[in-house]
Amino acid sequence: MKNQLFRKKSVDQILIDSHTHGSGLAKILGVRDLVSLGIAAIVGAGIFSTIGLAAYNGGPAVSLLFVFVAFACVFTALSYAQFASTVPVSGSAYTYAYVAFGELFAWIIGWALVLEYAVSNMVVAISWSQYFVSMCEGFGIYIPKWLTMAPGYAIEAHEKMLQVGADKLTGIDRIALEAYNTAPKLGDLPIVFDLPAGLITVLVTWLVYIGIKESQRASNIMVMIKIGIIIAVILGGAFFIKPENWTPFAPNGMGGVLSGIAAVFFAFIGFDSISTTAEECKNPQRDLPKAMIYCLIICAVLYVLITLVLTGMVNYTDLNVKDPLAYVFQYVGFDHMAGIISVTSVIAITSALLVFQLAQPRIWMTMSRDGLLWKKFATIHPKYKTPSFATLVTGVVVAVPALFFKMDFFVDLTSVGTFFAFILVCGGVLYMDKTGLSKKSKFKVPYINGKYLVGIGFIVAVALMFVYGQDSLREWQTLGTKDVIIHKSLVVVFWGTWLVLSILSFKQSFSLLPVTGILVNLYLMSELGASNWIIFVIWLAIGLLIYFMYGYKHSKLNKDSVSKEL
Ligand code: ALA
Repeated sequence: MKNQLFRKKSVDQILIDSHTHGSGLAKILGVRDLVSLGIAAIVGAGIFSTIGLAAYNGGPAVSLLFVFVAFACVFTALSYAQFASTVPVSGSAYTYAYVAFGELFAWIIGWALVLEYAVSNMVVAISWSQYFVSMCEGFGIYIPKWLTMAPGYAIEAHEKMLQVGADKLTGIDRIALEAYNTAPKLGDLPIVFDLPAGLITVLVTWLVYIGIKESQRASNIMVMIKIGIIIAVILGGAFFIKPENWTPFAPNGMGGVLSGIAAVFFAFIGFDSISTTAEECKNPQRDLPKAMIYCLIICAVLYVLITLVLTGMVNYTDLNVKDPLAYVFQYVGFDHMAGIISVTSVIAITSALLVFQLAQPRIWMTMSRDGLLWKKFATIHPKYKTPSFATLVTGVVVAVPALFFKMDFFVDLTSVGTFFAFILVCGGVLYMDKTGLSKKSKFKVPYINGKYLVGIGFIVAVALMFVYGQDSLREWQTLGTKDVIIHKSLVVVFWGTWLVLSILSFKQSFSLLPVTGILVNLYLMSELGASNWIIFVIWLAIGLLIYFMYGYKHSKLNKDSVSKEL
């Protein structure tokens, strides 16, 4: 059984498979196209919406968090790049895990990637809806509020109103209360849902369904618009910066800054999605690594600048809005600029939606070809040549929750799943080094010997913890066992993993950069709330159930399944 669970695909087999299936995809993408696709995926709801709440909690110092998270992503991107140059087929981290760790892990990663692609697209759809509503209002069209948000917001605002009174409600809460009050009721339950979020998902799914060429053309135009808006906000906003808004730089301390991790990380998610296009690249081994790093650098620079501009234009306490990029211009009295930003943001966010809506069905298609998902997921539409069934399922899976759930919940969930996938990809590089598979890689993560450095880093970190982390150590002493298990188990896992990696690095001379990637991702992950973890574990359990009920038996690597099919 153990051997079966960890049965692996060989790189040669994967390449043969992809030729046999004759993906039929045209090899047309070069570095510039890939960077464009990457930016289309990366720049979305994160910078257009969730940055608002992160800046509200952390203040201007959130700009530094962007730098830190970008570094974490670079380590992971290098690992992705090495895999993409070794296994240049679609499927992304799922395929890589199949090579490195075997089928069970591959399934787990594929399952976690649903969080990265489908679940994150729920956030993007909701963010799109928020800009769409504000754009319509700019044109004097008022959609009833109960048709523009998740019921959770309305119910919460109503509860707040009961506690503190309607006068005390501000920003989003006030609008949500209006939704509650004006909504038709089913008994006591207000009927509130986010219609634009559902509709845009249906529209984009249709675009993706009818053909990749059309999608890519549309995506290129949208990327240009997107970068245009961000640069316009940076340059235009620079004139309105009041440096006094940057003091205090971290008003709520480290805790406030770190509470934005999920939102900031969310803003970077997507650079890996270009690895799903490996079969459509002219020279994936050369171009994918370059494109990923370029994407990250471009986005990191833009994000840091935009955070400084937003927090410089208005006081951070005013940024608890869902459309911060447009809001700051309204705030300084430039309504026209705010209007232009709302209109263009609607177009720009659509491109992020498009890329993930493209990527998710292709991952399912790859999993289905491997026999881990039902065959229907690999069905290619005879006329449009797209994975039609998987595309439709993606549409439903994204559209329905986008109608009814709050954005913040999905942001956290996406981040947990993606950190998890990133850690396994970094770990996969260590495995490739150990087994000699790296020799087949045309791009390698630059090797720095971690033999002593990982352990020295551990000792230094522990020492620093004792010198500077007394507050946090004192907090630990007040916690009971139950609290430690619920709230701190990941912190324990982080330190434990560092210790284990120190020992292994000493024995095996591990490459330092992938080890750093694992540790930085794990650290960021440990800062996410415990409730996210519990949901993630439930998600994994459901995934494992499906695997054992279906994939385990039907896998192409299962000899029985092959003979049955013959
Ligand atoms: N990075 C993507 C976004 O911000 C997921 O929308």
